[in-house]
Amino acid sequence: MQIVILTGAGISAESGLGTFRDAGGLWSQYDLEEVATPEGFARNPDLVHAFYNARRANCAAATPNAAHRALARLEAALPGQVTLVTQNVDDLHARAGSRAVIQMHGALMRALCAECGHRWPAPATMSPTDRCPACRRAATRPDVVWFGEIPYRMDDIAAALDRATHFAAIGTSGQVWPAAGFVKSARRNGAHCVELNLERSDLAAMFHAQHIGPATEVVPAWVDSLLAQGG
Ligand code: OAD
Repeated sequence: MQIVILTGAGISAESGLGTFRDAGGLWSQYDLEEVATPEGFARNPDLVHAFYNARRANCAAATPNAAHRALARLEAALPGQVTLVTQNVDDLHARAGSRAVIQMHGALMRALCAECGHRWPAPATMSPTDRCPACRRAATRPDVVWFGEIPYRMDDIAAALDRATHFAAIGTSGQVWPAAGFVKSARRNGAHCVELNLERSDLAAMFHAQHIGPATEVVPAWVDSLLAQGG
């Protein structure tokens, strides 16, 4: 079995972290163009840092939930057979015990120097005057992928999708590319594809099956059923 799992904001919703596109979600409170694009950062770095500083604080105060823990349990039970790809910039998968997490949209808890590419652990509060510890230039930014930028580790993800026998999308609306295209790639390669979500997403028809409900309920149950199949 080779299982590729894609997670989105819905898996962290019950840990108290907001999703983007649900009613009251982050993109109804903030203008995506202003806080999640390189152009927005160039226009108003204070605003962008304030947005990510607040999200970093929320993340630090949150704890992993039963869904994060179930995925860590799956990885531990099936060593070398699980690739966990997340669009989330929180660190809840790692804190739940998942080891090999691909954070394709980057990490809130890391800082990046836009000039020299150096990365380091983000302080709780970042500001436009922060200097890179390596090159000393004031060009620091959150190490997150903004709209218009290329997500991280796409080659590793493509290789995992190529060999996948099972693909699961958990808590993602399927509205952001390239992650929205993963189910199509996995299916083309013959993987059995399931969606675990509070409701059917726009991509629902692409999946062989749905497990509808809160992640803390449907994810542990799905992991149990996979492990019962014998791994
Ligand atoms: P969205 O906010 O677009 O979608 C969240 C999904 O989670 C929806 O389909 C909800 O129905 C579902 N959901 C909500 N609560 C849930 C729960 N308790 N259990 C299970 N499912 C639940 O978030 P993403 O799909 O992750 O990118 O968004 C993808 C990307 O868009 C993000 O990584 C971010 C955003 O703009 C960047 O910032 C680059």
